[in-house]
Amino acid sequence: MNHLHHSTPSRLPIEHRGEAKSNHDRGLVSVYEPRSLRTYTPTQAVLARSAGVYHWTPEGKRLYDYTSGVLVANLGHNPIAWMERFCHYMGWPCQTVSGVPTLQLTNNAIGNGHIVPQDSPQGYFPAVAMTAYNAITPIEALASRRLVETLQQTPGGGRMEQVMWAASGSEAIQKALWAALARDRTRPMILATRYGFHGKKGLANAVTGSETDAERDPRVRFISFPMHECRDLSLRDHPFDPTPYERELTALLHQFGRKIGTLITEPYLGGGGSYHPPRAYLQMLERWCRINDVIFILDEVQANFGRTGDLFAFHSYGIEPDIVVLGKGLGNGVPVAAAVGRRDVFDALDYGEGSDTWSANPLNCASVLATLDEFASHDVLANARQSSAIIEDGLIQLKRFPFVAAVRGERGGMVWGIEFQETAGRSAPEWANAFVLACYEGDHATSDGVHLLGPLSKKVVRVSPPLTITATEARLSIAIVLAAAERMASEIAPAPASRHLAPV
Ligand SMILES: Cc1ncc(COP(=O)(O)O)c(C=O)c1O
Repeated sequence: MNHLHHSTPSRLPIEHRGEAKSNHDRGLVSVYEPRSLRTYTPTQAVLARSAGVYHWTPEGKRLYDYTSGVLVANLGHNPIAWMERFCHYMGWPCQTVSGVPTLQLTNNAIGNGHIVPQDSPQGYFPAVAMTAYNAITPIEALASRRLVETLQQTPGGGRMEQVMWAASGSEAIQKALWAALARDRTRPMILATRYGFHGKKGLANAVTGSETDAERDPRVRFISFPMHECRDLSLRDHPFDPTPYERELTALLHQFGRKIGTLITEPYLGGGGSYHPPRAYLQMLERWCRINDVIFILDEVQANFGRTGDLFAFHSYGIEPDIVVLGKGLGNGVPVAAAVGRRDVFDALDYGEGSDTWSANPLNCASVLATLDEFASHDVLANARQSSAIIEDGLIQLKRFPFVAAVRGERGGMVWGIEFQETAGRSAPEWANAFVLACYEGDHATSDGVHLLGPLSKKVVRVSPPLTITATEARLSIAIVLAAAERMASEIAPAPASRHLAPV
């Protein structure tokens, strides 16, 4: 770890020795962008090229991606088959030349099943418009139908009737909540699971966190999530007692009665530190919502498209939401999100009340169709299950190190959290950040590293590789992670002077 110094944030641009090109770009970004645009990650990796599970830095260092962006590139980075489908839906003339998808832009049309205009002007090529706004493109109609059908065919998808498109997860959450509130204006109160993360903007922010955060929305009340019961994956099969959680709901019902119209939760607390609850907890919430005619919104923005071992988390957890919110992996890298759910709830909003510039954008729709096609045509989940077992075995081995407090994750899925703890004079956040750096530094012999993000809740490092990671890639990458932890253990040193960490 001799050339990687940063384990705590400072106002100076991050630099790493021997990385001149990366340092140049880090410097530019530190001049021309505010630091608030990023959460703190001590490596601040610069990614010049990416393919599959790999990133390459400008210096040519290869990194195994243990982030998938931020749980977005579930199918890996730049998959050829996905890209070809995406181009096909857009009507972009794309041919694969020597294994590389190549755009051949001429003003001759290619047919993508709809139109073949022969008279497009010089300097342009006829394809699906990149923006259509209020107009309808055929791929929008197809994407909405295909997404609804895919959800309906999934156990628990019985209430999936319409798609409310959005361009980011927090927008889709906002729209889901707008619709739920509009269903009955006399029922403005929303219950949200404490320490959940639904986004930083608007109503998504209002249902994020806990009652002790600044600027709370008076319509929102927080309910407890069984974090203690799932603090480590060794507790996965322990019996779960829902009684205290039921009591809390009963008390809120006594206090607010029918004013409570909506409940929102994540299947597992993602941004809150990777807490994967017993199924019985979510099933209890669903039951309570049904009995009390409360709209049950499941935020799958990060869980969807395979993270929990099934295509959708409501299937893994055996529940049937009224509205499911999708994002991240939905477009495998194209910014797209959606709230999908009951027609009668969405009907409460009138023309324009859920519209904006980017929703149902053709690029979004093409990316969703390509993603649906890929999951339908390959057994991506079977591959993920196999690699999941290898990664999880390795992560469990991390628990022998004194700085690792717990490991949590989805059984058969592709998302875990490693919680660090204070020991040997270093705080949990310092250990977590040092771990991110040590994994980046990686294997001296091959110069391969592992790309991670700065810790969640200051001390939980999330592991979320693409679902397409092969068994061999899983074995090689987890070996790098274990070797990094070994090095940290052997180099236990006095704590650095500064203990201040910016919020992540
Ligand atoms: C569960 C969950 N909901 C919502 C969001 C917000 O999504 P976005 O960042 O696209 O607005 C996130 C993002 O991390 C998330 O994890």
